[in-house]
Amino acid sequence: MCGIVGAVAQRNVVPILLEGLRRLEYRGYDSAGLVIINGGLQRVRSIGRVASLTADCAAQQVHGHIGIAHTRWATHGAPTESNAHPHVSGGLAVVHNGIIENHEELRSRLKGAGFSFASETDTEVIAHLIELYYRQSKDLLDATRKAAAELEGAYAIGVVSEDSPNRLVCARKGSPLLIGLGIEENFIASDVSALLPVTQRVMYLEEGDVADIGLLSVNVFDAAGNKVDRSVHISELSADMAELGNYRHFMQKEIHEQPRALTDTLLIAVAQDHIQPEWFGFDAAEILGKVDAVTFLACGTSFHAAKVATYWLEEIAGIPAHAEVASEYRYRTSVPNPNALIVTISQSGETADTLAALNHAKSLGQDKTLTICNVPESALTRASRLKFLTRAGPEIGVASTKAFTTQLAGLFLLTLVLAKLRGRLTPAQEVEHLTALRSLPNKLQQVLALEPEVEAWSHRFANKNHALFLGRGVHYPIALEGALKLKEISYIHAEAYPAGELKHGPLALVDEDMPVITIAPNDQLIGKLKSNLQEVRARGGELYVIADGDVGIEESEFVHVIKLPGGHNGALSPILHTVPLQMLSYHAALQKGTDVDKPRNLAKSVTVE
Ligand code: G6P
Repeated sequence: MCGIVGAVAQRNVVPILLEGLRRLEYRGYDSAGLVIINGGLQRVRSIGRVASLTADCAAQQVHGHIGIAHTRWATHGAPTESNAHPHVSGGLAVVHNGIIENHEELRSRLKGAGFSFASETDTEVIAHLIELYYRQSKDLLDATRKAAAELEGAYAIGVVSEDSPNRLVCARKGSPLLIGLGIEENFIASDVSALLPVTQRVMYLEEGDVADIGLLSVNVFDAAGNKVDRSVHISELSADMAELGNYRHFMQKEIHEQPRALTDTLLIAVAQDHIQPEWFGFDAAEILGKVDAVTFLACGTSFHAAKVATYWLEEIAGIPAHAEVASEYRYRTSVPNPNALIVTISQSGETADTLAALNHAKSLGQDKTLTICNVPESALTRASRLKFLTRAGPEIGVASTKAFTTQLAGLFLLTLVLAKLRGRLTPAQEVEHLTALRSLPNKLQQVLALEPEVEAWSHRFANKNHALFLGRGVHYPIALEGALKLKEISYIHAEAYPAGELKHGPLALVDEDMPVITIAPNDQLIGKLKSNLQEVRARGGELYVIADGDVGIEESEFVHVIKLPGGHNGALSPILHTVPLQMLSYHAALQKGTDVDKPRNLAKSVTVE
């Protein structure tokens, strides 16, 4: 969703801000803008892509040594130029991520104080509120601090003023914001990837922090106004990790990066001879040793990873597990279990619903918390006692691919750790699982080699309006994920069902226009699955089967089969069966000509409820 970049430097910051916004495009947005202080405020805003903002800046020859920039994903007010950030009041300008919940009350108060509003946004109240206090103290830090104290909701804000041409003030609560440290230049951003071309040295702001940033100084104050030190991290990400290279789309690149991403994620485990709780944190043995159930809280693709893990945990570790959609959990009356392990899963680490669900779980006295996350120092990793970092690297495509398979890898390790702690693994099984994990990246590489066959299927999907995905057992969540991928990027309506449910409703939809994509691993349910497929064929449905090499389902006119190399892959099978579905949705989207990496209406980091 929205993105923030700010810079104060001795050089022209406009290219830095525009490149930063370009790097934040993946989060999803519908307008962009910047303000540069050069004598007075110079503001340029544009609906649509950062490229058009870049062209406008070039046309207007905007340049200067300090500025703030923003990509906006509309919440309050349509994606128009007047609603685009930065918003100005007097001589100061503000960019904002998050939602101000008391904006209506503040708006009427500020109108009463004589301010007039030029937009429908909640952000504009922040600009006027800071201006109100600035008139009294003539101090940007003081005014921002006072205004921030009155804001309810979530915010990350950047503020500049034409009276202070070397000063960038920022604040955060509920939305992420970090400071990038350069040499005689400093930056702010909502996401480290925006700053990678200029610095890898970053300082993450904590809840309620306000910072005063100059060319040579960075001063951070906590919510109580005390000057505080926040540690400096060196980001492991490099600027070119977020580049497309030879690929046509980030989604395609990220699908193909999965063997590398899994290798990196599993490194912590496969280098060892034994399963170790410490993979999840130094005190993990103590915490995990006490849990008697697992509750997963997640959204979207991460929720599907959670669903897979529930099957693994009950079968391998013998521990009750259930997965909840994070946005639902918070608002229902649940029965808290203080001995449950609360596991949040998130590629971004900042999904508002998941964060709120975690806080809700804690407020119910459930304090054994773990997050499986792709972003170190994210809100979720900081709010959880235990963490496991997936090492997928930046995922730019909105539709999650490598983040999902690395989440599954992390969840499988969790399963093994809990199984071991509960005495459910023999030493031989331990070795067997670690050996299987070691060969996973190679097997995945072999599955990627099936891309031409998957692409050939995709040609038949471009003119379809609906598709049905079937799976059974632990592969049912993979069917859900396949359906989600297809709808996200090709806009083909897709549903997923456990194959046994077919006869209880969805079979009524099956005819020659409804492709039925089926995951067919050679497991104990294969016989029953074959019967389910006969039910489809008997109604004229066309089958697309992704099968293990030895299941014995043969091609015919209306039965298309792609065979994964070798036989059944045991517990790791869902990870391998995911990849053809990712490739199918990618190629179907190419056939339809949709915007693969930035599907309409969707955002990569969903920081609002
Ligand atoms: C958005 C993204 C999805 C993602 C979901 C949950 O909808 O487009 O790809 O699965 O959020 O995000 P999280 O960062 O918590 O995994």
